[in-house]
Amino acid sequence: MRRIFSGVQPTGNLHLGNYLGAIRNWVTLQAEYECIYCVVDMHAITAAQDPAELRASTREVAASLLAAGVDAKTGILFNQSQVSAHAELAWIFNCIARLGWLNRMTQFKEKAGKHRENASVGLYVYPNLMAADILAYKATHVPVGEDQKQHLELCRDIAQAFNSQYGVDCFPLVEPLILGEATRVMSLRDGTEKMSKSDPSDHARINLTDPPDLIARKIRRARTDPDPLPGTPDGLATRPEAANLVGIFAALCDASVADVCRRFEGAQFSTFKEALTELAIAELAPITAEMQRLMDDLAYVESVLQDGAERARSLARPVTREVQEIVGFLAA
Ligand code: TYM
Repeated sequence: MRRIFSGVQPTGNLHLGNYLGAIRNWVTLQAEYECIYCVVDMHAITAAQDPAELRASTREVAASLLAAGVDAKTGILFNQSQVSAHAELAWIFNCIARLGWLNRMTQFKEKAGKHRENASVGLYVYPNLMAADILAYKATHVPVGEDQKQHLELCRDIAQAFNSQYGVDCFPLVEPLILGEATRVMSLRDGTEKMSKSDPSDHARINLTDPPDLIARKIRRARTDPDPLPGTPDGLATRPEAANLVGIFAALCDASVADVCRRFEGAQFSTFKEALTELAIAELAPITAEMQRLMDDLAYVESVLQDGAERARSLARPVTREVQEIVGFLAA
């Protein structure tokens, strides 16, 4: 069986990094795999969220995923908190994962920053919940951006440790699918920082909700260096902002970075940015328009999530039962 699981947090709307690093691949992979996609609201509350905003963002992100082409009929789209198997399995994995493993997680260190003692315990065990998300469905493949690679290695460690501790062959070892030329999209203001929802500057990212004129303005103002574009990818090695824009261009037109360098060799950034703007708008404007249409029909979006949760529950139920039996819990 080849089954995909992946998730996205409903903390604000989706940006180009989410789209190129993950969502676009989610859509393509639907042709080959059974796909389960999830809006991970339980992960979102590892940092404080306003309840009304969380509810709105969960719907908005679900609408964005549908607008981007996630097929909730052949696959499943739901929000995490509606399927209790995630929390149940996460507890069991809290008892499998070692402190030493979690201490190595770079994302926790980045997110907790200097205020480690003040971070929620949920933020610390966040990767255990991710493992539960995936393994509740015994998913085999997980399409993500580069930043999630370490969490997926932890998921493999948990699966292996569970199987070995109980002498079973219950959980598969998941394969990360980190695909395309934009697996780590960087901020438009600083090529050494990841494009992120939490960046205080909205000009650092392109949101899937941005209208075309705003996309154009953000790309025009994106930081670059004074040199023209190089003819080969080697020429981008020490130019993070240039490398980022070329990577975005390549991902948007399904070309390689080498192809894009060949095409724009010697061009000034003003010319390149115009071509990039045109490409980004051509790809994103239809998604934004469809998303707006869906936001006017929230009853439909809700019904998709409810139907998805129902189907997710029935896939996760036998796995939860199997795990309860393995660890020695009494049958319900
Ligand atoms: P999240 O919500 O931060 O991001 C969702 C997806 O977008 C990718 N991504 C990026 N890719 C390229 N460049 C960027 N700048 C960029 N920013 C984000 C992420 O890699 C991710 O694939 N913990 C996860 C959500 C999650 C999950 C899971 C994923 C929960 N359970 C189980 C896979 C499987 C997260 O916070 O993603």
